[in-house]
Amino acid sequence: MDQAGTLRKMAKAVKESKGFQDIRDRGKTGNFMTRGIAVASGKGGVGKTNLVANVAYNLTKLGKKVLVFDADVGLGNIHILLGLMPKHTLQNVDIMMEGPGGIKILPASSGNKKYSELTTGEKLVLKAELESLENDFDFIIFDIGAGISSNVMYFCTGAQEILIVSTPEPTSFADAYAIMKVLSRDYARNSFKLVVNSVKSKEEGLDVFNRLNKVADRFQLNISMNYLGHILDDDNVTRSVREQRLFSEKYPNSPASVCVRSITREIITANIEQGLEWENMLR
Ligand SMILES: Nc1ncnc2c1ncn2[C@@H]1O[C@H](COP(=O)(O)OP(=O)(O)O)[C@@H](O)[C@H]1O
Ligand SMILES: [Mg+2]
Repeated sequence: MDQAGTLRKMAKAVKESKGFQDIRDRGKTGNFMTRGIAVASGKGGVGKTNLVANVAYNLTKLGKKVLVFDADVGLGNIHILLGLMPKHTLQNVDIMMEGPGGIKILPASSGNKKYSELTTGEKLVLKAELESLENDFDFIIFDIGAGISSNVMYFCTGAQEILIVSTPEPTSFADAYAIMKVLSRDYARNSFKLVVNSVKSKEEGLDVFNRLNKVADRFQLNISMNYLGHILDDDNVTRSVREQRLFSEKYPNSPASVCVRSITREIITANIEQGLEWENMLR
């Protein structure tokens, strides 16, 4: 988009949002994407992008309309995972791409420092653009970057649901706890979904979930966690990443694929139970 176009959009977004205060308030008190699921972890390299892409693929195969938004602004790589080659990588809707099975993808800029920390104006533009897309999709899934930067908080607080990914490693566990703590303490977000990745067994996943709950209780963090399931440690994941293919597509019967199908079912069930305006989930 040219600069004048960007400014026009920004002005419109500011007007419609009644000023900058509005976005901060929303950040603290609620969300703007009723169909949005933010996938975050605190720590990088725990499997967020693989989870997002494979869940999106499964949902699409079940007939849902899914948009994946690469919210790892500055270091986005979901398009690489999917073997796609975007012509331009900017954070606007003009560059929507189609991935395996018909998933729609909005890639982020990669290695582009200019966009690594979004300004308030850019956040408002994005918010307006995403809101304008909301009715076209059943799910909009945000692949969030590592850390607890203002970008990360912006996308997490914007989405209706926050899905935290942790592995059993203590470093990942600590960061999963830290991001939930910040979101609940500073942004009034108290409800989380949890996926435990790279586990040796179902029990190991449940153990991580139980321990996170215990720590939250011990430190009187007022949060509720809903366990969506585990993903087994599986060489097919690494293999499919190298091949730039989705493991759910290339190795549908691999352990990780079976696990992600179960998580996808949980996501759909949870959304039906929430009884939002999601009648179309049942179609
Ligand atoms: N279930 C798994 N089994 C084996 N390796 C995995 C699994 N999940 C992730 N990985 C490995 O971890 C790497 C990082 O995953 P990625 O989805 O890019 O993480 P993130 O988006 O959190 O940084 C992958 O490239 C893959 O090699
Ligand atoms: Mg990633």
